[in-house]
Amino acid sequence: MKIFPLRYAVIGMGGIAQTHLRDIATQPGVTVVGLADVTDPQTWKVAAEHAAVPRFQAVEQMLRETRPDLVSICTPNKFHHAYTLLALRHGAHVTCEKPMAMTVAEAEAMEAARAAAGKLGGINFSYRNIAAFRFARELIAAGELGRLRRVHAVYLQSFLGAQAAPYSWRNDAGLAGFGALGDLGVHMIDGVYFLTGLDYRRVTGLAQILLPEKADAAGRMHPVTTDTNAAFLAELSGGVVATFETTQVAPGYGNYFRIEISGERGTLAVLSDQTDALWLRAGESLTKYATWKTDLPLQQLPTDFIARGAPPTPGAIVPAIRGEKVDLPTFADGLRAQRVLGAILDSMKTGAWQKLG
Ligand SMILES: NC(=O)c1ccc[n+]([C@@H]2O[C@H](COP(=O)([O-])OP(=O)(O)OC[C@H]3O[C@@H](n4cnc5c(N)ncnc54)[C@H](O)[C@@H]3O)[C@@H](O)[C@H]2O)c1
Repeated sequence: MKIFPLRYAVIGMGGIAQTHLRDIATQPGVTVVGLADVTDPQTWKVAAEHAAVPRFQAVEQMLRETRPDLVSICTPNKFHHAYTLLALRHGAHVTCEKPMAMTVAEAEAMEAARAAAGKLGGINFSYRNIAAFRFARELIAAGELGRLRRVHAVYLQSFLGAQAAPYSWRNDAGLAGFGALGDLGVHMIDGVYFLTGLDYRRVTGLAQILLPEKADAAGRMHPVTTDTNAAFLAELSGGVVATFETTQVAPGYGNYFRIEISGERGTLAVLSDQTDALWLRAGESLTKYATWKTDLPLQQLPTDFIARGAPPTPGAIVPAIRGEKVDLPTFADGLRAQRVLGAILDSMKTGAWQKLG
């Protein structure tokens, strides 16, 4: 396959930008042509290999002058929508961070603009890249659990309660849109869809702010306006019930994302920390793994499956642009998750189930 050159730029030079640069800039034929952020360029964390790349504080100027083919959007959530439209207008493919947008209307406009421009749009649903998640998906798709009956997802963190984590844009609803619900809940929503392939039919939920205020790095107190914990219930296609819980204030939990799924012939569970193993209880009728034990042991994935690997998200957009068939989480996936988030917020206002689709 011919490797044609790709000009690549990043908007928002904070934490996750490092992952985008690592996954995208290291691929053959990719040249980083511009980096942008509203803060002083001298304060950005830039790896030595990108030290000579032009730096911009004006995003539109960077797009105009550097003419990238692909742009990563790594800013706080509020800016995902406007920068996506801008990058598409400048002729670039876009890979955007999650949650895709602040509202369903914004996410719909992003997908419509992408389709009109004829470009690719990726959303960094990073857990899709974990081997255990991909293997669980294959087991379920192959029918190894039989007809699915229940799903349970938890995503627990503690950082928000820690003094070491100062107040940031993540705690401001005007910049983040959501707290735990949009930051962690969106990974659960996409993760359950990715593993089961089941659509969301209706949802109801509750999100709360358990931590009213937080000190910034200078010690000044600010009100926390984003939810710190949320729980929601969904009916998936086929009537499967899925329960979800997420929090940023559970002492003892660093980054604990677990999905458990039961079907008529077995139960499996995946955990974000266990990338190369999963828990599986296999019934008598399981075919391919009939020799597996009938409790719920942690099983290593087959080494040949791990060896096969997968392009990392967000890096999968590069082979996708080059016409390779890869598993890329797209704007359509981001929009699906955004609709579920929007329906949960609506259910909190109305006190009633919200239908989707
Ligand atoms: N996929 C994942 O697992 C994952 C993990 C972490 C963060 N994220 C997402 O990545 C995004 C950024 O998060 P982060 O942790 O890197 O935050 P961060 O605070 O570390 O970085 C954000 C950067 O954006 C810059 N910025 C702010 N406003 C801007 C503007 N108007 N124009 C240009 N730059 C601007 C900030 O100066 C900062 O450098 C968020 O959407 C977040 O949800 C996703």
